[in-house]
Amino acid sequence: MKPLRIGLAGLGTVGVGVIRLLQKNAETITARAGRPIEVVAVTARSRDKDRGVDLSGMRWHDNAVSVAQDPEIDVIVELIGGSEGPARDMVETALTRGVPVVTANKALVALHGEELTRLSAENAAPLFFEAAVAGGIPAIKLVREGLAADRLDSVGGILNGTCNYILTEMRTTGRDFGDVLTEAQAKGYAEAEPSTDVDGWDTAHKLAILAGIAFQPIAFDTLPVHGIRDVTASDLTFANELGYRIKLLGMARATGDNGIEAWVRPCLVPAKAAIAAVEGVFNAVTTQGPFSGPITISGRGAGEGPTASAVVADLIDLARGADLPVWGVKDAPAPVSCTSLGELK
Ligand code: HSE
Repeated sequence: MKPLRIGLAGLGTVGVGVIRLLQKNAETITARAGRPIEVVAVTARSRDKDRGVDLSGMRWHDNAVSVAQDPEIDVIVELIGGSEGPARDMVETALTRGVPVVTANKALVALHGEELTRLSAENAAPLFFEAAVAGGIPAIKLVREGLAADRLDSVGGILNGTCNYILTEMRTTGRDFGDVLTEAQAKGYAEAEPSTDVDGWDTAHKLAILAGIAFQPIAFDTLPVHGIRDVTASDLTFANELGYRIKLLGMARATGDNGIEAWVRPCLVPAKAAIAAVEGVFNAVTTQGPFSGPITISGRGAGEGPTASAVVADLIDLARGADLPVWGVKDAPAPVSCTSLGELK
C-alpha cells in the first residue's frame, strides 16, 4: 500500500502529538485510512531540541515554504500558527501547487478562509481544519457532515478553555479575575500575553469558522467581541443566586430574514442548560436546527492529545479520498447584524 506522505511544519505540543499518535496507533490508523500515513518531512524553529519523539528518517527543511514545495509529499500539515507569515505562505504555496492542506490554525482560517477555500477549489487541493475549532471535539465534522441536511437556527458555544476555566474558578472559589488568570498562566492554560484568550479573540476566530460553514463567511472585523476581563466574582455570585451561570459564548444565529447575527461576549446561561454544566478547561459546541433539534457536545478544546486527534482524523479523511466543500453554501443566511447580550435557552 502506497503511504500518504506528510510534510509537517511546527513541532510544538500539537506537532509532537501528531507524530506520537501516528506512531502509537499506526495499525489502527492504517486500517481506517486504507493505507499507512507517514510523516516524511518536517520543519520547526529549532532542529536540535529533544522532543521525545523519533524524527529519524524524516527530511529536515529550513523553512515552511520549502516543505510545501517538497515534491515527495502528498499533504502538508501546518501547525505553526498565526494568520500571516510562514503559516499563510506555506498554506498558499501548497494549495497553489495542488497539495492538500491540514491545519489547526484558527486565526488563519477565520481571517482568510474564504480566499483559501477559493485557492483550494481552483487547484483541486482539499483544505481541512478540524483541529482549528474546539480541539478534540469534532465540531467541523458535526456541522459540515452530521448536520448537512438541516438549515441551522444557531451554532456556537464555549470555544475557549482558558476563559471557561477562569470563570469556573472565580465562581467556585470567589477569587477575582486577575488572581485566577495568574494561576491559569502558571498552569500553562493561558498564554503569557493572555489577550487572545481573555479578550475573546480566540473564541471569535472559532466562531467565524463555524458560522462560515453553517451559514456564510463573516467579515471578521465586523464581529462584536467582548471578553471576560470585566466580569467580577460578584457578577458570578448574583447570577448563581438567580439560577444562571456566566459563560463566554460565541454564537451565530439565523435572524429569520435570511440573515444571521453573531457575537462573542459573556452571557447568562440558565443553570439547567446543557452548556452550563461544561466547566473548567472544557469546550462545548452547541447547535439548534429545525430538523436536528438541540445538540451540545463537550470535550477538551486544546492540548496535545485532543488537537492531534483532530489533525490525524483529517489525514485519515484525506487518505480515504475525501474532498468536502467546507465554506458556506450559496443560499445560506448571511451576516446582517449583532446583538449585545445573549441568553441561551
Ligand atoms: N488558548 C486556547 C484555549 C487554546 O484556551 O482554548 C486552543 O485554541
